[in-house]
Amino acid sequence: MNLRDTILVTGGAGFIGSNFVLQWIERVGTPVVNLDLLTYAGNPANLDSVKDDARHLLVRGDICDAELIGSLLREHRPRAIVHFAAESHVDRSIVAPDAFIRTNVQGTFNLLEQAKLYWATLEERDKKAFRFLHVSTDEVYGTLGAGDPAFCETTPYAPNSPYAASKAASDHLARAYHHTWRMPVLTTNCSNNYGPFQFPEKLIPLMILNALEGKPLPVYGDGGNVRDWLFVEDHCSAIRAALERGRVGETYNIGGNSERKNIDVVSTICDLVDEMSPDSAAGPRRRLISFVQDRPGHDRRYAINASKIADELGWSPLERFESGLRKTVRWYLDHRAWTENVRSGAYLDWMERNYAERLAL
Ligand code: NAD
Ligand code: TYD
Repeated sequence: MNLRDTILVTGGAGFIGSNFVLQWIERVGTPVVNLDLLTYAGNPANLDSVKDDARHLLVRGDICDAELIGSLLREHRPRAIVHFAAESHVDRSIVAPDAFIRTNVQGTFNLLEQAKLYWATLEERDKKAFRFLHVSTDEVYGTLGAGDPAFCETTPYAPNSPYAASKAASDHLARAYHHTWRMPVLTTNCSNNYGPFQFPEKLIPLMILNALEGKPLPVYGDGGNVRDWLFVEDHCSAIRAALERGRVGETYNIGGNSERKNIDVVSTICDLVDEMSPDSAAGPRRRLISFVQDRPGHDRRYAINASKIADELGWSPLERFESGLRKTVRWYLDHRAWTENVRSGAYLDWMERNYAERLAL
């Protein structure tokens, strides 16, 4: 491994990170050091297909651990850091925000600080080539009304949940490391992802599994909240584009041009599950839809204007929402063992904590 080849990925055993690592090994093929704490959301089974691949090294560790990060950087001399590691679930950030501040704010700060120390030791040419890519979310921009223009890179930050606030804080730190020390940092702000390996606490996999198992489908509030959905593989290709061709110090919004109301997403999932796993005795899955108590401070609408990344880097999504959702339902149907594996005791505790009161309404 030398400076030109290796990249350090953080959070590469989670949903987007593992998709990114698998895509990277397949399409780029250079070595990846994958640092992940393996929290409830991190799952080495996502990386089974590269388990014996010499180009992939999974290291269990914490982005808050300065010594570990420093030694990984000195040993592997990566040409880039792609930073996914985070606490990522809004509902959890409402129930217990502490971990979000620790990992998303303190952890990102620590990673930036260690990256700065490492970067300072590089030769001029390598310093120029080095990249720190910070993966963030559209939730930092707050919420939109029905007729508002979509978020662009200059939209003021207005985070509304502890999750969004912690990501906003980390974005500001990433920006400051570029502005102050000219570190080659880029930030991407992406809309809601879906696809294989997503932990079933998030809307789409939760609804697929509950529909399959004949359980209630808990739609928050009136179901009219709108999200922009992007197939995870498209997000990964956008990150690669930003890494290879993005201008340092810039931020790039990434989106799927697929705004959908939650109730429409859930209804479509019901129809797909009916089609792919018919249960005529139980009747159509739409009957399982249950409107439950809303999320406090629930953002009404997210929408992304992705014209900057399209114009500058030539990126646009390849997957349409309907075909991507179909593929995703198929994936969960075909990977029941994966699902059983991730739905451990801790998962069941969370389901009880988040939904018991809501469903009792
Ligand atoms: P995820 O929760 O599925 O995975 C997060 C990963 O980070 C897990 O593997 C976990 O073990 C690891 N991790 C957590 N704390 C850590 C720590 N202290 N040290 C090392 N590793 C740690 O999240 P995701 O959905 O894959 O999101 C990845 C990134 O993309 C996050 O930064 C998130 O904010 C951002 N993002 C997500 C979405 C989305 O729709 N999921 C959209 C836009 C941006
Ligand atoms: P989620 O997947 O948690 O992503 P985010 O909150 O980051 O957008 O939720 C997507 C949308 O679905 C959001 O508007 C909240 C809603 N939702 C439900 O209606 N029911 C649920 O059980 C969950 C988890 C989410």
